[in-house]
Amino acid sequence: MHSRPSIERAAVVALGLTAWSSLVAAGPCDIYSSGNTPCVAAHSTTRALFDAYTGSLYQVTRGSDGASANISPLSAGGVANAAAQDRFCTGTTCLISIIYDQSGHGNHLTQAQAGYWKGPDVNGADNLASAIGAPVTLNGQKAYGVFMSPGTGYRNNAASGTALGDAAEGMYAVLDGTHYNDGCCFDYGNAEVSSTDTGNGHMEAIYFGNNTQFGGFGTGNGPWVMADLENGLFSGQSPGNNPANPSITERFVTAAVKGEPNQWAIRGGNSASGPLSTFYSGIRPTVWGYNPMSKEGSIILGIGGDNSNGAQGTFYEGVMTTGYPSDATENAVQANIVAAGYAVTSLTSGPALTVGSSISMQVTTPGYTTRFIAHTGTTVNTQVVSSSSPTALKQQASWIVHPGFANSDCFSFESKDTPGNFIQHSNFGLIIAPNNRVKSFLEDSTFCPQSGLNGQGNSIRSWSYPTRFFRHYDNVLYIASNGGVLTFDNPNSFNNDVSFLIGTSFA
Ligand SMILES: *[C@@H]1O[C@H](CO)[C@@H](O)[C@H](O)[C@H]1NC(C)=O
Repeated sequence: MHSRPSIERAAVVALGLTAWSSLVAAGPCDIYSSGNTPCVAAHSTTRALFDAYTGSLYQVTRGSDGASANISPLSAGGVANAAAQDRFCTGTTCLISIIYDQSGHGNHLTQAQAGYWKGPDVNGADNLASAIGAPVTLNGQKAYGVFMSPGTGYRNNAASGTALGDAAEGMYAVLDGTHYNDGCCFDYGNAEVSSTDTGNGHMEAIYFGNNTQFGGFGTGNGPWVMADLENGLFSGQSPGNNPANPSITERFVTAAVKGEPNQWAIRGGNSASGPLSTFYSGIRPTVWGYNPMSKEGSIILGIGGDNSNGAQGTFYEGVMTTGYPSDATENAVQANIVAAGYAVTSLTSGPALTVGSSISMQVTTPGYTTRFIAHTGTTVNTQVVSSSSPTALKQQASWIVHPGFANSDCFSFESKDTPGNFIQHSNFGLIIAPNNRVKSFLEDSTFCPQSGLNGQGNSIRSWSYPTRFFRHYDNVLYIASNGGVLTFDNPNSFNNDVSFLIGTSFA
């Protein structure tokens, strides 16, 4: 029983010695083509996935005038031109409005529309992602991933070339292993064309997170790479625990799922180093409906097949193939991903904040500049504060800077007069609340300052909802987006209302 794995390993090493040199310049989809399992969808905001690809990677739409721009690789097969995005979005906000399909099949991903479940945007559509929520570098060059808060989703219900019925396919995605939740469902892959649940086996998608509600889980507390096969998240052959499926803790995660008649597999690894491991490979679930499969061929990102949109996660790149990729092909793709050199970069810009300092945050909107961010009870608001104000008011307008609970590159703000209470967003309003150390509190009390959108001071965006910034509206603080369905998302005066001068506190 010990000989077979070592023979497989020897075969992989042999591939590495013979075929690898000819593949080293190839992109992931060139590698899949060499394995006779070509990409039928290839999505990435960070880089070209074909060595020869020079077309658009994604489209951004800006808040100031609704104009859009396409972002392409810097060179054929190269990293996205993030500087072009930064220029286009200077002094305003940008959303990722299209993630183009690089495969030539036209399987672009756009804003998911209402399905069985409704999203938060107009007519039940899901939200689009911020264009700046997931900055990274690839071998030192800046690029942006797709940071998806709950309520965000992309879809293509008219995809062509993707697997139907029980036909064979493969897929992988590069994700952020630290950005997940237990909502349903952060998926990438094959789903229903109707945006409704049409039954077991009508999906075959990568799932990433720590949802345990739909059967599957693995060792530890998650998150796990699983397969969303509709009405079931499978960590292995049968519903429930598959001990071979480990919790993933890497910052960058490669997740892979593939399926063909009565055979499927889940694989995963660290996108920044090392190989893929196989968490499951074998027969289809014996639960009714999953063998044969009834795949419908639409493509989802960040949501479930029925437009369940409670999940969060970050997507950098991913593909879907026709045919069942060999492990050797996937291993070569993983080597290409590692060679792409994914790494973290700063989430902040503008005037620097100092951990441990006690600060004031002054409104810059003309006519309101005597006001500072303060709180009354648990409500965060703005109040007129000056050096002659009573000490109690000065303290209400004073905040102590801490490293961000969810990401230490960003910040959390403790109320000076209510120690242990921190600014947190709750239903998009800002409150102060005690740190209960729950994951959602830690995330929703982490904020990333950047250069002020009106050219003054800082605009302070939510880590967990990067389309949203600290905004004063009727003298109350919210996290607001630049346009949207909520009253305080009003685009009028947005840049001024989200820009604050950080200074030394009054108290
Ligand atoms: C998912 O993980 C978070 C953070 O550890 C935890 O608070 C939550 O309860 C987990 N969810 C499930 C369903 O286990």
